[in-house]
Amino acid sequence: PCNVVVLLSGTGSNLQALIDSLDDGTDNGKSPARIAAVIANRSDAFGLQRARDAGIATRVLEHGDYDGRDAFDEALMQAIDAFAPQLVVLAGFMRILTPGFVRHYHGRLLNIHPSLLPRHKGLHTHQRALDAGDAEHGCSVHFVTEELDGGPLVVQAVIPVHSQDTAGSLAQRVHVQEHQIYPLAVRWFAKGRLRLGESGPLLDGNPLPATGYL
Ligand code: GAR
Repeated sequence: PCNVVVLLSGTGSNLQALIDSLDDGTDNGKSPARIAAVIANRSDAFGLQRARDAGIATRVLEHGDYDGRDAFDEALMQAIDAFAPQLVVLAGFMRILTPGFVRHYHGRLLNIHPSLLPRHKGLHTHQRALDAGDAEHGCSVHFVTEELDGGPLVVQAVIPVHSQDTAGSLAQRVHVQEHQIYPLAVRWFAKGRLRLGESGPLLDGNPLPATGYL
């Protein structure tokens, strides 16, 4: 199977969705992907506990222990590459990665972002969707490139914004969608159906649309 390393900083509900999806028995017991390790930049990330409970190896690299971004990313690359992954999955990893790191994993680094990219790159996406009066909100899976939250889109899920919504209620409904589309994208990649071609992502050899609404 496709070896996957997951990076996270927090709760890890997307990690959990991935673990559950790869273990759901739909592949006759032959899951297309295997999570080789979960690496966190905080020792208190609850996602580490989820990994341990699932028997997955864990590593912690506290970014405060390193002398700057380059040193941290260098150590992170070494920790990741020790597991020889074909795919690296960012699941709530709240660190900006250096260009060297992003280049090293070109075409094999996926991220999930809680907005309908290219809208609302960066932080506080749910509040910003409300403030902007957006009628729709959602989440996006994309290949990571040097442009922050700007890499080519793989799949998006849309939810309507209701008048009584708060940042919290939006976050909750977006999470439900994240747990659908991230495992889907990881499965596509693991089965060799999804790859980053020279002019953008390809699914079964066909270019994906620039906005890929589900
Ligand atoms: C998710 O909503 C993810 O989209 C977001 O962090 C959350 C992690 O939740 N990622 C980013 O904001 C990346 N900039 P989880 O820890 O429960 O999976």
